[in-house]
Amino acid sequence: MGDSLGKTITCRAAVAWAENAPLSIEEVQVEPPKLGEVRVKMVSSGICGSDDHVLKGKLLMKFPLIPGHEGAGIVESVGDGVSTVKPGDKVLTLIVPQCKKCDSCLHPKGNFCDKQDILPCSGVMLDGTCRFSCRGQKVYHSFRTSTFTEYTVVPEIAVVKIDDAAPMDKVCIISCGVPTGYGAAVNSAKVTPGSTCVVFGLGGVGSAIVMGCKASGASRIIGVDINEKKFPQAKALGVTDCLNPNKLKKPVQEVVMEMTGVGVDFAFEAIGLVDTMIAAWNSCNNSYGVCLIVGLAPADAQLPLEAVKILSGKTLKGVCLGDYKTRDCIPKIVTDYLQDKINIDPLVTHQLPFNQLHKALKLYHAGKTIRCVLLF
Ligand code: APR
Ligand code: ZN
Repeated sequence: MGDSLGKTITCRAAVAWAENAPLSIEEVQVEPPKLGEVRVKMVSSGICGSDDHVLKGKLLMKFPLIPGHEGAGIVESVGDGVSTVKPGDKVLTLIVPQCKKCDSCLHPKGNFCDKQDILPCSGVMLDGTCRFSCRGQKVYHSFRTSTFTEYTVVPEIAVVKIDDAAPMDKVCIISCGVPTGYGAAVNSAKVTPGSTCVVFGLGGVGSAIVMGCKASGASRIIGVDINEKKFPQAKALGVTDCLNPNKLKKPVQEVVMEMTGVGVDFAFEAIGLVDTMIAAWNSCNNSYGVCLIVGLAPADAQLPLEAVKILSGKTLKGVCLGDYKTRDCIPKIVTDYLQDKINIDPLVTHQLPFNQLHKALKLYHAGKTIRCVLLF
């Protein structure tokens, strides 16, 4: 605040110069926010599976870019026309914005705002330009959030004020991972008491799904992951049976069918792979099972399913950010956390300073984290 107002800020940020290239911590220039934009001083950022998809080039994004979307920060300054946040406010960045004007925002059930920059990814702000540069070169935004930086600029519609009492070293995961997972179970699927669930992928998102299933009273929660290091934590959160597909003699969906006799009531895919989406679908009860696709598939992937199997009544549903209208609902999850109605603490297994980003990514890739939070 104060000195930097209206000026370009020079700070540190992680720049991905190309897909599959190691991230490099660089000095970058961050322009002041333009009309309808907000400049945020980051306090923390989670490392989410989607960021990994970005860095691996699965989403056809433009490089160089600054990755990251799961951010908590403090508003440094606002551009003209901004009315919902002010300098000093604690905020979360939103990978799915809420413009409150598009068809999806106006529809009672929609949340996939037209102004999102996920499908497809343009890498630019709403006016078509970038706010970042590095070594004289333009640097693109990821999902119009870009949180692996000390300062970022986001559209006002992609940022929301949260409770002043929020612990900023943790609540960043309420910007994406928690609503994506927990919301998929409690809000989208509306998991019923006594029901049977299977969750494919026990990372940050899958773990939040498990929490949601448990909170909804599911009596059996089967967790599926190829990394058995995830099993103890998953069990602590409510998973009743753990399966490692690599160690099974049969396809995992057949094992789930045998374990349950009739298939599960609710299946969730939280990995982002076509094969596990098919396995989740085929784990569902043929008549009333509901399969929710939470994972983000590679940009060009197709999902081949046996067409005849849909007739018997089961449901296939995609879900982004737990079907929550983000600016309306995400601050309430922060408040629920402050009131002990939901506990996100077990999901934050690691916290590291931003300058140890490479160590954090190493831990993530080694499968040792549920969520590793970067602290600025
Ligand atoms: N079968 C089972 N589990 C797998 C497989 C597989 N073939 N491949 C990966 N996994 C497991 C990993 O071991 C890991 O525990 O899936 C989990 C993925 O977790 P994270 O990498 O922590 O990713 P997360 O942030 O949870 O996101 C998961 O949801 O929103 C989307 O874009 C996101 O597609 C991503 C998914
Ligand atoms: Zn909208």
